[in-house]
Amino acid sequence: MQANLRLGLAGLGTVGVSVMRLLAKHGDELAERCGRRVQVRSVCARDRSRDRGVDLAGVNWFQDPVKLAQDPNIDVFVELMGGAGGAAEASVRAALNAGKHVVTANKALLAAHGVELARLAEERGVSLNFEAAVAGGIPIIKTLREALAGNQVSRVAGILNGTCNYMLTRMEKEGLSFDACLAEAQRLGYAEADPSFDIDGHDTAHKLALLASLAFGTEINAAPDALRVEGITRITSADIQAADELGYRIKLLGIAEKTAAGVEQRVHPTMVPKSSAIARIDGVINAVAIDADFVNKLLLVGPGAGGDATASSVVGDIADIARGTWLTTMGRPATKMKPSVPPNAASVAAGFFVRLAVFDRPGAFAAIATRMAERAISLESIVQRARAPRADAPTAHDKIAPQPVILITYETTEAELKGALDQILADGHVAEMPRYIRIETF
Ligand code: NAP
Ligand code: HSE
Repeated sequence: MQANLRLGLAGLGTVGVSVMRLLAKHGDELAERCGRRVQVRSVCARDRSRDRGVDLAGVNWFQDPVKLAQDPNIDVFVELMGGAGGAAEASVRAALNAGKHVVTANKALLAAHGVELARLAEERGVSLNFEAAVAGGIPIIKTLREALAGNQVSRVAGILNGTCNYMLTRMEKEGLSFDACLAEAQRLGYAEADPSFDIDGHDTAHKLALLASLAFGTEINAAPDALRVEGITRITSADIQAADELGYRIKLLGIAEKTAAGVEQRVHPTMVPKSSAIARIDGVINAVAIDADFVNKLLLVGPGAGGDATASSVVGDIADIARGTWLTTMGRPATKMKPSVPPNAASVAAGFFVRLAVFDRPGAFAAIATRMAERAISLESIVQRARAPRADAPTAHDKIAPQPVILITYETTEAELKGALDQILADGHVAEMPRYIRIETF
């Protein structure tokens, strides 16, 4: 058997502790598979006094992750601290510069600095592996980087954030509040240290940018002009209920699609038909759908967050290094990645769910339909619900509060829809800017 593969593990939180547990539980089996033992030689976290429920006897403690990254007694630096910059960035750079392999679960870091770090890893001839950074326990990086190397991918899309899917599922099925669901996701270790990354859609965006780069051979680009991001904070129980009545469920999706104008990347709440497989993905489970020319359609489903599922991916990456498998970080040399050119405007057509608060005035519906028709937007269905009259209203018309009206459109572009809705608002027939949610089919 070869010499032990020695790890320096920075971060002993949800994921770091699960990695320690997994290695303790399956160390013998892993050694047999890889032909050498994997040993945690050194660790690092902020608070040394905290009992983390794992055995740290014989393991060196470092207070400074950069010093740990440069420790001559380690072969692999495992970064499980998080954050796009700061200690994570400094220590990963230090490890690569010192010729150490790196394994990380940090999508924020890679979305911001991935191309540069991939170049550095390739210059030094070491691995920079990040299976755990996208979709937790689903081996999606290996799938795109290795298994689908012979395909041209046209779309990669999916539920990429366990926290949001967990929250939307519980809000829908149990009628729980947004805040209660978020608190539970945090308690279960699904959420980021700053949960606004989850609910505002940025965590999904970071993951999508990595998947798009792997799928299309383009540089990782999560800049605001390249990736439109909307999270779930504006989703109301009324949206969830209306979607349900119309045969849809709402999911936060990340979608990257090759168009004639460039790679379109977007993250937003999406209506998916209840009959689609993706609509049935509940709780912390993630799903990634890939359209590719030779394999046609793939759907990978599995736990997207949580210590154990994520540790499974981290250890898979470590096992590759233990076996001596070396691959370019993004599936091709970083110097060969094409610039990522975002299209000027959302160009992929779709149907839309539109929720309007319409004043109950003669001609309002006709005017709304006209504005839609002017932009060649056809309506598949219109649903109007009655509301109780308002006793405090000053005039007879205003005694009826604006009526909630739901429209489902046939295919149009977001630009056309937005144009029509701006006009409808300006005409004064609606009480507020209408909400719209894209409909996607899989
Ligand atoms: P976490 O529970 O907050 O743990 C972070 C760990 O890093 C803690 O042990 C913390 O030390 C340590 N740390 C933070 N800053 C440090 C610094 N400057 N110096 C030394 N140690 C530092 O986070 P996590 O949930 O395990 O996530 C870790 C990484 O995995 C993140 O990049 C995250 O995005 C990613 N990830 C998480 C999940 C998940 O389900 N949780 C899934 C996939 C990927 P103390 O404990 O002493 O505070
Ligand atoms: N906070 C992330 C999520 C962790 O909920 O999906 C996994 O990347």
